[in-house]
Amino acid sequence: MQISQKDFGKTKDGVKVSEYTLENNKMRVKILSLGAAIRAIELLSPDGRATDVALGFDDVSGYENHDAYFGATVGRFANRIKYGRFNLNGREVRLNLNNGKCHLHGGFAGFDKRVFDGNISGNTLLLTYASPDMEENFPGNLTLTVNYTLDGNSLKIKYTASSDKDTILNITNHSYFNLNGQKGDILSHKLKLYSDEFLEFDAEGMTTGRILKTKGTPLDFSSYKEVGEAALSDWPQIACVRGVDHAFVLDGENKKELLPAAALLSPDGRRMLTVLTDMPAFHVYTANYLEGKFAGKEKAAYQKNAAICFEPEYYPDSVLHKNFPSPVLRKGETYRHNIVYKFDF
Ligand code: BGC
Repeated sequence: MQISQKDFGKTKDGVKVSEYTLENNKMRVKILSLGAAIRAIELLSPDGRATDVALGFDDVSGYENHDAYFGATVGRFANRIKYGRFNLNGREVRLNLNNGKCHLHGGFAGFDKRVFDGNISGNTLLLTYASPDMEENFPGNLTLTVNYTLDGNSLKIKYTASSDKDTILNITNHSYFNLNGQKGDILSHKLKLYSDEFLEFDAEGMTTGRILKTKGTPLDFSSYKEVGEAALSDWPQIACVRGVDHAFVLDGENKKELLPAAALLSPDGRRMLTVLTDMPAFHVYTANYLEGKFAGKEKAAYQKNAAICFEPEYYPDSVLHKNFPSPVLRKGETYRHNIVYKFDF
C-alpha cells in the first residue's frame, strides 16, 4: 500500500487543496484535503482497468459550488436537527438553519467546506481540522482527525475528536456509491440492511421521535431486494422525502466491534459493498435531490437516484429525544467512531 500527494488547485479564498492517493493492487482511493472528502474509489481489475464507484467532481470549484456533500466528512452534526435548537447544560444552543426549518450537516459552511491539514504516517492518511469555538454556533474549540487506511479491499475511516467545552458531535462520511461507475442509476442495485427499525417522519419529513419496525414496509431490506422497490414507492413515509432518506437503527451504542450495517450488490452481482460501523445508526439516502444540473466527474450529469449513500451517524434530532443515544461530547472526552467500506469484486 502506498500513499502519494499532489496539488488539486485552490479554493476561491486561495487556499491550496491536496489530493492524496491511497493505492494497493486491488484499489485506488483519492481523498481531498477539502472536506477530507473521498473523491474516487477505483476498483482495479487484474488487467489494470479501473471502475470508479464513488461520485464526485474533477475540480475544487465543483466541490465549492455544490451542497450535496459528495464524499465529504460531514460535521459537526450529520443530518438534521429540527429548528436547530436544543439544550446543553441548561442553556439553549441555536444552530444555523441551512435546510428549511432545520440545521443540516454542520450548517452553511460545515466540515465539507473546510480545508484539513494532511499528514501521511506509514500506511495512514491523517487529516486534521481545528474548528473554532462557536463555528456555525457550535460550542467549544474542537479538533477532529480523520484517519484513512486502505487495507486490502477495505477503506477504513477512523474519527477522533475532542473539545475544550461540552458540545455535540456527530461525524459521518457522505460518499455517493454507484457500483456500475459514473453512469446510470442505482435503482436495480440490490440492497440488504442489517437493521429492522427506522425513524418515523411527520408530513414535513421531520422525525417524530418514534422508532418503527421495517417489517412489512417498503423499507424492509432484511433480505436483498432492488433499491427501486423502496426509492420509487409512494408510501407516505417515503414520498414525503422523495425516496429513501431514512435513519436505520443499529444495535445501540459503544459497541466494541464494527458490525455490518448495509450490503449493496451491483445488478450483475459482480461487485459488492459492505458498510461496517460502530455508530448507533446509519442513514440511507438514494440521492433524491440530484437533478443533473451540474457536471460531475468525466462531465457526468448525475441524475436523481444516480447513487446511494450510507451515512453512519447518531440519530437525526438525537439532541431532542431522550430515547435516542446522546451525541453530547463532554469537555476532555475523546470522540471515536469508525466506518469501513469493504468491496468484493
Ligand atoms: C440527507 C438528505 C440530504 C442529503 C444531501 C442526506 O444525508 O439525509 O436529506 O438531501 O444528505 O444534503
